[in-house]
Amino acid sequence: MTRVFSGIKPTGHLTLGNYLGAMRRWAEMDQHRSEALFCIVDLHALTVDHDPARVRRLSRQAATLLLASGLDPERCTVFVQSHVDEHARLSYLLECVATDGEMRRMVQYKEKAAREQQRGGSVRLSLLTYPVLMAADILAYGTDEVPVGDDQTQHVELTRDLAVRFNQRYGHTFVVPKATHPKVAARVMNLQEPTSKMGKSDDSGPGIVYLLDEPEVVRKKVMRAVTDSGRDVVYDRQERPGVANLLEILAACEGGNPEDLSGVYESYGALKKDTAEAVVEVLRPVQARHRELCADPAYVEGVLRAGSEKAREMARPRVDAAYRAIGLLPS
Ligand code: TRP
Repeated sequence: MTRVFSGIKPTGHLTLGNYLGAMRRWAEMDQHRSEALFCIVDLHALTVDHDPARVRRLSRQAATLLLASGLDPERCTVFVQSHVDEHARLSYLLECVATDGEMRRMVQYKEKAAREQQRGGSVRLSLLTYPVLMAADILAYGTDEVPVGDDQTQHVELTRDLAVRFNQRYGHTFVVPKATHPKVAARVMNLQEPTSKMGKSDDSGPGIVYLLDEPEVVRKKVMRAVTDSGRDVVYDRQERPGVANLLEILAACEGGNPEDLSGVYESYGALKKDTAEAVVEVLRPVQARHRELCADPAYVEGVLRAGSEKAREMARPRVDAAYRAIGLLPS
């Protein structure tokens, strides 16, 4: 069976973009058609300035929301990265296969490092090596497919390069994975800035709908979304990014197609109203289930414990094999 691995970084509250772009598909499709692992990648949250209590809280919340959005521990493995030592063990080996130049060419690193330096801050070394840890996350499990947003394509390409290089030098050890991108609503955009992604790590903003936003807050944010000059409600990503984003969100919530909604609405106001209600309805069952799970923290903890045990069993033989292949003595 195809093996699928994806990760969520606990650096911010999960958003509608995370849900429509990734989580919903994991629950509805991936866990049914493949052997899937979903990981709260908490080690990655330490690559930038962080508050320990916040990381802890966001990790627990991300796990709870993954389950609330329909991931079933009987069908897939949900776990926390730092609970499975194999990630860090393998990461070091891959650092011995990757080059410094390769790391410095990563677009996300260049952007984040530039931003950090502009603020006068320093850049953690782990930010540079982050993609190697991500490669370890993926390669430890013999992953075939990595469902991610477009911004992660370069990191998955690097993962492939490292797998091929390791296999060539030291003998076949790793499966060479590929990135997959969902077609519909792969990218939900910020409601206030419809040309940039609705990311969880951007500080709170009126353009971001969080999964745990109350219905009234969701309505307010959607009703205040920026639209474009002009009046026709047509679907045109280039010329009308604000309206296109609303149409895409509405279509994604209703399981339809944004092109089919082009020309259906008479006014921006009517489109916003329907979009707001559609989002509220999509979030309702997730929030209800989240409340239930919060009342039973022992259950969530149990799921994570069982998940990390299973993940460890899956990862260990391959990581051990990599240790042997690269020239380290068996213990
Ligand atoms: N880098 C990913 C992000 O920022 C998160 C991530 C870490 C990940 N390890 C992964 C995604 C492995 C897929 C597979 O979104």
